[in-house]
Amino acid sequence: MDPSRRRALWGLGALAGSSLLRAQQFDPFHDHSRLPGFDEMASIMDFEEVFHAKLPRQIYDFTDHGEGSEFNLRRNREAFSWVDLVPRGAADISSIQTATELLGTKMAFPIMAAPTSGHGLLHKEGELATHVGTTAASNTPYIVSNASSLPIDKIAACATGPVWFQLYPRPSVDATREILEKAQAAGCAAVAITMDQQASYYERAAHLRHLTEDPRTAGTPPRRPTTKNPYRVPDGRLWYNWKFLDEIRPFVKVPFVAKGILTAEDAELCIEHGMNGIYISNHGGRSLDYGPSTLEVLPEIVSAVRGRVPIMIDSGFRSGTDILKALALGANVVTVGRAARWGLGAFGDAGVQKVFEILQGELVMAMAQTGRPTLASIDRTLVRTRFR
Ligand SMILES: Cc1cc2nc3c(=O)[nH]c(=O)nc-3n(C[C@H](O)[C@H](O)[C@H](O)COP(=O)(O)O)c2cc1C
Repeated sequence: MDPSRRRALWGLGALAGSSLLRAQQFDPFHDHSRLPGFDEMASIMDFEEVFHAKLPRQIYDFTDHGEGSEFNLRRNREAFSWVDLVPRGAADISSIQTATELLGTKMAFPIMAAPTSGHGLLHKEGELATHVGTTAASNTPYIVSNASSLPIDKIAACATGPVWFQLYPRPSVDATREILEKAQAAGCAAVAITMDQQASYYERAAHLRHLTEDPRTAGTPPRRPTTKNPYRVPDGRLWYNWKFLDEIRPFVKVPFVAKGILTAEDAELCIEHGMNGIYISNHGGRSLDYGPSTLEVLPEIVSAVRGRVPIMIDSGFRSGTDILKALALGANVVTVGRAARWGLGAFGDAGVQKVFEILQGELVMAMAQTGRPTLASIDRTLVRTRFR
């Protein structure tokens, strides 16, 4: 074959096999020639590689893609490079203490599993396998998505570790009430309501339309504009509708957290409307392109909240130092979405368990290396921000 043609084909192959998220890890030595096994999983991004290789393209894209041009997805990752860790001494690793409590839920580490939809696409046991994995990882609390493959009562009935519920409110108050009552009756310890995420548009999925039409491997088909619905707004999503929130607030007897908050003003409104926690999230760059990263807005939200309610955060967290940075900027707990999905798709419940154990181990190591033996000792003096 003509060498320039061969080079061009190699380039195409590398492009098809490469991953957008991994590219953000700036790993120039990535070896595509062999897939690593379970025992070789050393960091979260290793799971993504196996996930990419094992699952059909549409399912991989459904998990990994972001909204629009995916700028927000990239920015979530970039933001970690704009926060320096400034260690002062080191701590004995055996002295590190990470246990905490969030709204009545005890946890061994300030890390939870974020709600993500449809685990049945990733593993035949769906969310049950995820729960087995999170529980095996020191009882990591798992927030089950309202769009789970299995019903919440079934998951909660099998649960041996802490389970929270994430709500996508329906336009009708009664329908929303029914969902909330079912989740609470099932034993969910808290509820997180997704406040935004109105009309996400995943261009990556749209561009794949000619590669396969196999419905068995389809994730979520891209929502296309129609004459009836030119803005692709799905039914049943609440968009910062405070009146609706007031109407459904009395139905939630367990702690109630607002997910999708990105400004100090909205955090303040959440508290005024009786929410028990703020969950800073741009849903992993899947909601609105060109928004800020969650890490960038964290400091202003922490200042506005002034410790009145706890703060959770997600979007782009892949390592123990990522988590440490958010804790230093004032978050109480970090949640991870894609990392758990990669673990599940790659190795089932054992993969989920290992994902969380790696994050937990990395956090302990990062605390020791920076001389912060307890969660209380992690504060703003640990970081220097260079946000753009
Ligand atoms: C494939 C996928 C499905 C998701 N489904 C939901 C969902 O059903 N409800 C929700 O509130 N957030 C959902 N999210 C957002 C996650 O809760 C979380 O905010 C996000 O994954 C965090 O970013 P990370 O994946 O970089 O950790 C989903 C995210 C992904 C990747």
